[in-house]
Amino acid sequence: MSVLRPELFKNCVAIVTGGGTGIGRAITYELLTLGAKVVIASRSAEKLQIAVDEFAKVGSGNITSIPCNIRKENEVRSLISETLKRHGKIDFLVNNGGGQFLSPAADMTLKGWNAVIETNLTGTYLMMRETYTQWMRDNGGAIVNIIADMWRGFPMMSHTGAARAAVLNLTKSVSVEWAQDGVRVNCVAPGVIQSPTAAANYNVDVFEEAKKRLPSWRTGRPDEVSGAVCFLLSPAARFISGTCLNIDAAGSLYSPLFHNVDEHDKLPEYKWIPDPPKQSKL
Ligand SMILES: NC(=O)c1ccc[n+]([C@@H]2O[C@H](COP(=O)([O-])OP(=O)(O)OC[C@H]3O[C@@H](n4cnc5c(N)ncnc54)[C@H](OP(=O)(O)O)[C@@H]3O)[C@@H](O)[C@H]2O)c1
Repeated sequence: MSVLRPELFKNCVAIVTGGGTGIGRAITYELLTLGAKVVIASRSAEKLQIAVDEFAKVGSGNITSIPCNIRKENEVRSLISETLKRHGKIDFLVNNGGGQFLSPAADMTLKGWNAVIETNLTGTYLMMRETYTQWMRDNGGAIVNIIADMWRGFPMMSHTGAARAAVLNLTKSVSVEWAQDGVRVNCVAPGVIQSPTAAANYNVDVFEEAKKRLPSWRTGRPDEVSGAVCFLLSPAARFISGTCLNIDAAGSLYSPLFHNVDEHDKLPEYKWIPDPPKQSKL
């Protein structure tokens, strides 16, 4: 159920990467309930088909899928051109597909680092570039990039922190470059959002751990992210571009999530200004 007006997105066409699971699935569902035609895209044709079938069962049939690895330029090109062939236009792009793994920065291999950067940064760039050059440059549109709570760095997930910070900067750059074409580009930064597929990405229960360190004392739900995405795509946000909406119930303002610093004395105080002279008692 959306807080936006029913049928608001009637006749609109949206692409949602990673739209078959977790946060992307919730975004897809809300777009469908608002009347949009949605193309979901990710690497696994099987996952996509399961989502298409599930939505069809509950009568949200305006959904199709196209398998695509966003790291592959040729696959991204065909995803956009095939969507245009199917629907004749693209009003919305939601760059939600992405992923990472837990590791200290010092232990990452170059291969692991590159995989995360290519997925989350380069994949998002390719999706935006192809959607813009093949359609939005001439017709306008709205783009939302899902990033993450990386505002204070992202210990144990530094690769994704770096990639998401870069996506935010990329968003700001193209929001200016593409303004003259009527293209708005924004980010949504989810806090800790629990779903079965998100949990399966990690070999420790990051969500249980995170709960204790959040001002909300609970994790977020995928549908608590989708409302923000649909708002940013909607005409209510027509004067909003180049910014980021944090969906984290103030989590990003609170304590570190995945990394405790043990007590230590490795940063002793260094007094470079001598103490002021003691004040006389008189
Ligand atoms: N859950 C959280 O707490 C949280 C917080 C901040 C940000 N995020 C981000 O939000 C997005 C959605 O995550 P989620 O929590 O909903 O987890 P999820 O269910 O695992 O969703 C990730 C989706 O991305 C797709 N994907 C991964 N690599 C891809 C690639 N190379 N090309 C195309 N699609 C790809 C996956 O599908 P395939 O496997 O079929 O490719 C999957 O559908 C991700 O970018 C995630 O990093 C999540």
